[in-house]
Amino acid sequence: MARHKVTVIGAGNVGATTAQRIAEAGLADVVLVDIVEGLPQGKGLDLAEAAPVVGHDARISGTNDYADTAGSDIVVVTSGLARQPGMSRDDLLAKNAGIVRSVVEQAAKHSPDSVLIVVTNPLDAMCHVALQASGFPRERVLGMAGVLDSARFRTFIAEELGVSVEDTHAFVLGGHGDTMVPLSRYSTVAGVPITELLPPDRVKALEERTANGGAEVVALLKTGSAFYAPAASTFEMVESILHDRKRVLPCAILLQGEFKTRDLFVGVPVVLGAAGMERVFEIELTDEEQAAFDRSAAAVSELVAKLG
Ligand code: APR
Repeated sequence: MARHKVTVIGAGNVGATTAQRIAEAGLADVVLVDIVEGLPQGKGLDLAEAAPVVGHDARISGTNDYADTAGSDIVVVTSGLARQPGMSRDDLLAKNAGIVRSVVEQAAKHSPDSVLIVVTNPLDAMCHVALQASGFPRERVLGMAGVLDSARFRTFIAEELGVSVEDTHAFVLGGHGDTMVPLSRYSTVAGVPITELLPPDRVKALEERTANGGAEVVALLKTGSAFYAPAASTFEMVESILHDRKRVLPCAILLQGEFKTRDLFVGVPVVLGAAGMERVFEIELTDEEQAAFDRSAAAVSELVAKLG
């Protein structure tokens, strides 16, 4: 099998952990890029030196030069500022928009056929920037948020019911912010909706903890934001694309009429395969769920408008 190549831009917490997961799974060769000189090279070398112990043959290196990223199958964008305590994802908007625009322009030039996975926050707005800066079709510009938000919901459901996370599935739709829409009716343990397993007030508490999941970690860490679960979630998307697995995963994509929404990046379930987003997986929403989805979409729309 030909070797795959994945570029990870931003050699910080999320980027380096994502690079480690991809390399250690032997999924692809990884190029780490950062604006700070020496940082991606140092982390790349350190990760390469772990390979004999871990037992994989993926090549991993770091660079400040986009020429080294040429021909990547996937480009993961994590560069930007992380959220500090008391700072909302939206505060990051202008600063990170500039960073994402510049890195995507350079990466897209060297890997014109790649799939872009955006991780930098505020996520949905950064996807708009990446779509514009790359000129890629919507199938190849995806935002990582739903997998993470669903993973958090799954963690809390499994803990509450004392069951394995593996038998726990969850769906979280909408923007990656306080208005996200955890869909409890479609969240299940061994196929049984949690609305049949837990009283309404407990379901609501778990939904609220999910929507606040990022901030909960930020408040504990004090000097940065979550990275283990974001990296694991990004890895799951990368793996589904490189192995053409057609996993059904919630991702931020540019909606073109699906879920009654147009020209806006919002999180919805999609089929992820070699071509990137291969199909939007539309599901029926109740009026109440659609209203929550619309509120979340409106919050994204407001941010996008601020981008100008
Ligand atoms: N080009 C390349 N790298 C850049 C640039 C740029 N123009 N600007 C900043 N970076 C790098 C920083 O040097 C840093 O190494 O991006 C990296 C970000 O790493 P961290 O500060 O550790 O942030 P991290 O926790 O990884 O989060 C990155 O992902 O989950 C989101 O909200 C989070 O937007 C944030 C992003």
